Amino acid sequence: MKKELRKAVIAGNWKMNKTPAEAKALIEEMKPLVKDADCEVVLCVPFVDIPAAVEAAKGSNIKIGAENVHFKASGAYTGEIAANMLTELGVEYVVIGHSERRQYFGETDQTVNLRTLAALEAGLKPIVCVGETLEQRELGYTETLLKFQTKMALTNVTAEQLKNVIVAYEPVWAIGTGVVATPEQADEGNGFCRAAIAEAYGADVAETVTIQYGGSMNAKNADELVSKINVDGGLIGGASLKAEDFSVIVKAASK
Ligand code: PGA
Repeated sequence: MKKELRKAVIAGNWKMNKTPAEAKALIEEMKPLVKDADCEVVLCVPFVDIPAAVEAAKGSNIKIGAENVHFKASGAYTGEIAANMLTELGVEYVVIGHSERRQYFGETDQTVNLRTLAALEAGLKPIVCVGETLEQRELGYTETLLKFQTKMALTNVTAEQLKNVIVAYEPVWAIGTGVVATPEQADEGNGFCRAAIAEAYGADVAETVTIQYGGSMNAKNADELVSKINVDGGLIGGASLKAEDFSVIVKAASK
């Protein structure tokens, strides 16, 4: 295990929060707090916030991401956003397959894969989310499910393209619930994802892939979570809406 082969990435996932003006204000507040980070700092924001967020982050170490992307380049897909619309605005990352998309918007492992391929094709770095429900965990399917979701998401992704992929292990039962996985559970889940990548691409390649943990990570528990060998940073929901809390998490990942 070589944690130093991978750059830690702390990504905020704002979900459906903040107007463009609020986004600008929050990023202005965050900039000085995260400027010395020794990890990648990303904020994934609602589509309409992107221009304001890119503008506010200009000249800083904060990168901007989107929260979804469609898999077609253009066409009759009312309400959807194509990858080149994002890159033209200066977006560098995109969250794909978040459990809320899977739960409420019909996202499947197949569409997660198609979105991942479209993002990579356009030069975006996908943050691909996988994770088991509490029921699946209690039935003993965590490893099987994480490996399946990881492999499905990465179908037809080349080893070269994989360099731009981040995987986020997000146990569904830990998202927005305040019930965080123990550091051991996070490390194990991330390890299952890494094992799936090793099976598909070889162990050496798997060692280089950034795998985040997400689900109720906050200023208090981040230190212990990100110190785990398989945890290369985090995908942060609630705590990314508060500049001070987010900066503490960034500092934990910078050690
Ligand atoms: P949370 O969300 O930190 O609020 O649990 C994490 C996520 O959904 O990415």
